[in-house]
Amino acid sequence: MAVVILDFGSQYTHLIARRFRELRAYSVVLPGHVPLEEVLAQKPEALVLSGGPSSVFDPGAIRPAEGVLELDLPVLGICYGMQYLAQHYGGRVERSGRAEYGKAVLTAYEGPLFAGLAGEVQVWMSHADAVTELPPGWRVVARTEENPVAAIQDEAGRRFGVQFHPEVAHTPKGMEILENFLHLAGVRRDWTPDHALDVALAEVRAKAAGERVLLAVSGGVDSSTLALLLARAGVDHTAVFVDHGLLRLGEREEVERALASAGVNLVTVDAQGRFLATLAGIDDPEAKRKIIGREFIEVFKQKAAELGPFRFLAQGTLYPDVIESAGSTGAANIKSHHNVGGLPAELGFELLEPFRFLFKDEVRELGLLLGLPDTIRLRHPFPGPGLAIRILGPVDEEKLDILRRADDIFISALKDHGLYDEVWQALAVLTPVRSVGVTGDERRYGYVLALRAVTSVDGMTADWARLPHDFLDEVARRIPQRIPKIGRVVYDLTSKPPGTIEWE
Ligand code: XMP
Repeated sequence: MAVVILDFGSQYTHLIARRFRELRAYSVVLPGHVPLEEVLAQKPEALVLSGGPSSVFDPGAIRPAEGVLELDLPVLGICYGMQYLAQHYGGRVERSGRAEYGKAVLTAYEGPLFAGLAGEVQVWMSHADAVTELPPGWRVVARTEENPVAAIQDEAGRRFGVQFHPEVAHTPKGMEILENFLHLAGVRRDWTPDHALDVALAEVRAKAAGERVLLAVSGGVDSSTLALLLARAGVDHTAVFVDHGLLRLGEREEVERALASAGVNLVTVDAQGRFLATLAGIDDPEAKRKIIGREFIEVFKQKAAELGPFRFLAQGTLYPDVIESAGSTGAANIKSHHNVGGLPAELGFELLEPFRFLFKDEVRELGLLLGLPDTIRLRHPFPGPGLAIRILGPVDEEKLDILRRADDIFISALKDHGLYDEVWQALAVLTPVRSVGVTGDERRYGYVLALRAVTSVDGMTADWARLPHDFLDEVARRIPQRIPKIGRVVYDLTSKPPGTIEWE
């Protein structure tokens, strides 16, 4: 039994599925034009027609297959989905000439879809066409200033259309609207994260049984959870962990311990010398990032050839990554990202991406179910290029050692004070600036270390964390005490924008 979401190409389709999962309803996303039998095979309890980029007038627009809308099912059409419903049941859709994008407010709303809502209901719109004539028996149940037909329902109260997107965060009461729909549709609400694990395991087993699977692990939550998933699924896998020498204190051992004890077949590659040699004397942040990305691919390719052949490359790609890379053309390239989870297609493997419809917090849930230790599962993001982009200017062994120890003092103190989970990300940056100080009677000429801690939701924007002064004081004293090469500690008060989270 499932809510079947027919996908007409909206970038939000899987967000609808995610919202239903949050509401503990099982849902599956199928291509919009999927044959009737495939819809029936899911034992549908309700149908959702997603939004999509097409207009109902486009000859090439995706349409539900014959018979799908004739099933006696509760239906919710969203955006394009609503327009399709209106047209299908005999109403009229027109190019409105008044495209509506972004925030809007419902000026009036009524009926069971909006049950329990009161006051201002803000919604997110993104459409050019409008329903101008309702199908017989249907009525308008919400309007905005711009749009007299923002939501509709049929006579029986079984079919609904909303012109806005209830699934996005910019429709703050969207969850209540979706929940009302589930309630009206009588959908069972017994989905739990265990089901997500079962689905991921089933996918991996179905695709990769009897095949060899390669993956790269970074020690981050996505690739570690993926490694555990492959181990749990019992598929023949090899996880390659490239130690590029730019990891934090004790990180390699921690990753090795966590993965090996969970039955992951882990191969660590010692590539510190190679990365450090290529990075020697390189000052420019972009050059550093590019070198690290290139070296990583080289090392990984060599190891794959040595251990291969493999049919599949497993990657911990998440849904936001899928969306971002689909929509990223034209986005300014601020930093060349090196991401262990995103190897280039030219490596020639078939991809296995069982998390491609999941969000970060859902992968964390899977990690929990798979026994991933919290030290990795709840860890702050750490960039692929590692400490190299937190040492401003050229990277060398000595600076890495200084930064590693300073970072460890800062992060350990955050944990000891129960502040680690309060901030989104915390890091230490070793600047090339040196300043004069005094210890006892001696002159001191040490590096300036910057501490940075930010609050954020997704890393796209960030604010500096208001850490308690006493805490900062403790860390600022401890660091130069234990690391004499550091003479001064500063705290970074820059938000993003205008800064970025990392300094390079
Ligand atoms: P910025 O510095 O752009 O970083 O504000 C946003 C988030 O992304 C992380 N970051 C990276 N992650 N590869 C990664 O996997 C990279 O090359 C990279 N650069 C930055 C950064 O730590 C922050 O969480």
